Amino acid sequence: MRAVVYKGPFEVAVENVLDPKLQHPNDAIVKITSSCICGSDLHMYEGRTAAQAGIVFGHENMGIIQEVGAAVKDRKVGDRVVMPFNVACGFCKNCLGGFTGFCITVNPGFAGGAYGYVAMGPYPGGQAEYLRVPFADFNCLLLPSGKQHEADYALLADIFPTGYHGAELAGVKPGESVVVFGAGPVGLMAAYSCLIRGAAEVYSVDHVKERLDKAAEIGAIPINYDEADPVQQIKDRRGGLGTDKGIDAVGYQATSAGSSAAGGEQDEVPNIVLNQLIETVAPTGALGIPGLYVPSDPGGVDENAKKGALSINFGRLFEKGLRLGTGQCNVKQYNAHLRDLITAGRPKPSFVVSHEIPLDDAPDAYVKFDKRVEGYTKVILNP
Ligand SMILES: NC(=O)c1ccc[n+]([C@@H]2O[C@H](COP(=O)([O-])OP(=O)(O)OC[C@H]3O[C@@H](n4cnc5c(N)ncnc54)[C@H](O)[C@@H]3O)[C@@H](O)[C@H]2O)c1
Ligand SMILES: [Zn+2]
Ligand SMILES: [Zn+2]
Repeated sequence: MRAVVYKGPFEVAVENVLDPKLQHPNDAIVKITSSCICGSDLHMYEGRTAAQAGIVFGHENMGIIQEVGAAVKDRKVGDRVVMPFNVACGFCKNCLGGFTGFCITVNPGFAGGAYGYVAMGPYPGGQAEYLRVPFADFNCLLLPSGKQHEADYALLADIFPTGYHGAELAGVKPGESVVVFGAGPVGLMAAYSCLIRGAAEVYSVDHVKERLDKAAEIGAIPINYDEADPVQQIKDRRGGLGTDKGIDAVGYQATSAGSSAAGGEQDEVPNIVLNQLIETVAPTGALGIPGLYVPSDPGGVDENAKKGALSINFGRLFEKGLRLGTGQCNVKQYNAHLRDLITAGRPKPSFVVSHEIPLDDAPDAYVKFDKRVEGYTKVILNP
C-alpha cells in the first residue's frame, strides 16, 4: 500500500510499504478514508525528536473496517470508525481510571501508546491506505454510516478532544474568561471548546493572520503577539484584570514576537508561553497545558532545554495559588460525547480544515504546513 514515510529532517515521501495484517485476534484492519497531519507530526518532521527514518506517520485516523480478528465482537466489517490517537488496552489500571493516554499495556516500559509516533510503540501510522488497530472493540469509535460530517468526525481522533482536554484541565466553566495561547488547530479547538462550555470571553493569542481570523470567526478575541506583549494587551482590555483560566496550545517550540513574514527574527523561547500564562491568569485560576513539552530535545535552544528543564516562575504560580494540568489527551474520555454533539448538528470543528488533499500530495503539504504559509491550518489526507 501507499504510505507517508519519514525520510529525515524536513523530508517525507509517499512510498509503497507492506500492507498491515491482523497480528492478534483483537485487531482490526481499517481502510483509511481520512487521516490528518498534526502539529505534533511537525516536531518529528523537523528532526526535533528521536524519530528514525522509516516510520509511517499518522495518528489521526478514520475509515471503514475492512477485516476483524476472531475476538473482535462489537465492531464489524463495513463499520465507519474513528480511532483515538492513543492506542490503549481498556483494562489496565490507567485505562480503567479513564487515562487511556497513559495505557501501560500497549507500550511496555512506558505509559502511553500512539500510531505513527516516535517512542509510542510499534504502531505504524495511518497516513496510508490501511491501518492495523489493536484492541479494536475498545479503540474504534463507531460513527453513523455514510459520508456525512467526514471532516468533523476525523477531528475526533485528536485535536477536538485535545482542545476540549485543555478546557477540562483548566476547569473552564460558564461565564469565565480564558486566554488560549496558540491558534493552531489545537488552540482553535481549545477556544471553540471553551465557548461550547459557556465561557464568556476567550482570547486567542497567535501571530499567524489566517489563524487569528479563524479565531475571530468563532467568536474569540484575536490577540497578535507580534503587535505588543499579549499579557498587557489582554489586561488592558480587561481593566487591568487577568483571565480566570488559561490554556497553552503551543508547547516547547514557542517563538518570541517578530514575524518571519515581516522579515523579523523568530527566536524559539520554550518557556515563554508558560510564563505568560502565569502572568495572564488571575490569582486562584487554573492552567491547562495540552501543548507538548518533552524530556529530551536534541535541538533544544540551550543545555537545559535539551533536557526539557525549563525556567518557569514557580514563585509567581505559588503566590497566585494557580493550579495546572498537563499531559497527553485521553481521547476516549471525550470522543463519544463530542461525536454525539457533531451528529446532533451543533459544533462544526471542521472550520479549522484548510486543505483536503490526496495522499500523494502529502510531501508538499508538510512543507507548507510546517512554514504555516498559504493558510495551511489543518490538512486532511484522503487516501
Ligand atoms: N496533549 C496532547 O494530547 C496533544 C495532542 C495534539 C497536539 N498537541 C500539541 O499541541 C501543540 C499545538 O498543536 P497544533 O497542531 O495546533 O500545532 P501548530 O504548530 O500548528 O500550532 C501552534 C501555534 O502556536 C503559535 N505560537 C508559537 N509561539 C507562540 C507564542 N509565543 N504565543 C502564542 N502562539 C504561539 C504558532 O504560530 C502556531 O500557530 C503542539 O505542541 C502539539 O504537539 C498535544
Ligand atoms: Zn495530532
Ligand atoms: Zn491500558
